[in-house]
Amino acid sequence: MMQLDIDAIRSQFPALARIEGATPVAYLDGPGGTQTSRKVIGAMSKVLINGVSNLEGGFGASRDADEIVHLGRVAVSDLLGASPAEISFGQNMTSITFAVSRALASTWKPGDAIVTTSLDHDANYTPWIRAAADAGVEVRVAEFDDTTGILDPSAIAEVLDDRVRLVAICLASNSLGTVVDVTSISAMAHEVGALVYVDAVHAAPHRLIDIQKLDCDFLVASAYKFFGPHTGMLFGRLEHLASLDFYKVRPAPSDPPGKMETGTQSFEAIAGVTAAVDYLASLSGPEGNRRKRLGETFRRISEYESNLALRFGKGLATIPEARIHGLPADDTRRVPTFAVSVAGRDPRDLASSLAERGIYTWSGHYYAVNVMDRLGTLETGGLLRVGFVHYNTEEEVDRVVEALASLA
Ligand SMILES: Cc1ncc(COP(=O)(O)O)c(C=O)c1O
Repeated sequence: MMQLDIDAIRSQFPALARIEGATPVAYLDGPGGTQTSRKVIGAMSKVLINGVSNLEGGFGASRDADEIVHLGRVAVSDLLGASPAEISFGQNMTSITFAVSRALASTWKPGDAIVTTSLDHDANYTPWIRAAADAGVEVRVAEFDDTTGILDPSAIAEVLDDRVRLVAICLASNSLGTVVDVTSISAMAHEVGALVYVDAVHAAPHRLIDIQKLDCDFLVASAYKFFGPHTGMLFGRLEHLASLDFYKVRPAPSDPPGKMETGTQSFEAIAGVTAAVDYLASLSGPEGNRRKRLGETFRRISEYESNLALRFGKGLATIPEARIHGLPADDTRRVPTFAVSVAGRDPRDLASSLAERGIYTWSGHYYAVNVMDRLGTLETGGLLRVGFVHYNTEEEVDRVVEALASLA
C-alpha cells in the first residue's frame, strides 16, 4: 500500500518552515486551524493578481468569478460526496449555522423539540439554543460518556421522540477527538421525522466525508481546518434548501445554492478551497476521478495519523502525571486530537511553556464549553489540546512528549 511522502508534503507548506528564536515551530494546533499549501496560496494570489469582479456581469473578470464559484461547488461536492447544487459558501461554520438555525426555526412550532449534544463545539450548540428560544421549542441535550468520551447513538435515542424536529450533532469532537456514529443517528432521527445537521469541521482534515453514507440533511465544514483559507461551506439536501425561507435581500437569488449566500463571497477564498481539495486529491495516486483519489488520500492520511497517535499515546504513558481524556490514543473511534492534563500544572501555563519551546498547542475549552463543563474542568482552566494532522512528524510527536515530561 502506498504511503504519504511527508518530506514532500511539508515542502509544499511554507508556514511549516517557521522558526521562533532558533527553534523550528511544531504546529500541533491543527484543531484550531491548519496551514495552507503553495497550491492554495498560488490559487488565491492568482485571483487577486488577475483581477476579479462580481458575479454575472457578463465580462471577462466577472465570468472568472462565476467560474471560481462553480468550480468551488464542484470541488466541495467531490470532498463531501454531494452534488454541486447542494453546496453553498459562507463566512465560516458559525455564521452559516446561525443562518440555517434561523431558517429552520421558522418552521418549528411550540410543542416541538430539538436535540443537540454536550460533545459539540459551541457553534453547533448556542445557535440552536437561541433559535429554539425564539421559536419557543424545547431543547434536549444528549450527553456523551465522560469517561470514554463516546457519544453513543443510544444517548440520542434516549431523547428522541416524534416531537423532535432536528438533531444537531458533530462528526468528530474538536476537544476529545471522538468520532460519532452519525449514520446510525441519522437513521434514528429520520425514523421520527427529524432532520440531521452535522458539524463536520473537525472531521474534515482527517476522514473522507460521505454524505450518502451519513445520510444527513445538512453538513457544515470550514476550509481553514482542512488546509484551505478562512471560509465556510454548507451542504443541504436540495428539497430542504428549496423549501426553507432563508433570510436574504430581495435581489439575491431565490433558488439554491445562491439563496443561502448572503452578500458577496470571498472569491479568492473559494478559489483556495478548490485548490485545497486538489491538494488533498494530489496525495493519492493519479488513478480515478477526484472523489476516488480523495478516498485513497484519506486512507493514507488516517493510516499515517494513527501511527502518530500511537506514538503520542506511548510517549505520554511514560509520564505518570500526564493523562489523555477520552478514548485511548490507539482507539480507532478517534482522530488524533488529544485533550491532555498534567497533574498539578495549569493548562494555560503548559501551553505557554510549550510555545516557548516552539511547540504550538492550545489550552482552555476551545469553545467546547459543554465538554469541559461535563469533565469538571471548566472552572480550572480546561485542558491542554495537542492535535496532529498529516503534515506533522514523528519528531514533532517526540518533541511534545519530551517537553511535557520535562514540564511535569
Ligand atoms: C468542531 C468545530 N465546529 C465548529 C467550529 C467553528 O468553526 P468556524 O470557525 O468556521 O465558525 C470549530 C472551530 O474551532 C470546530 O472545531
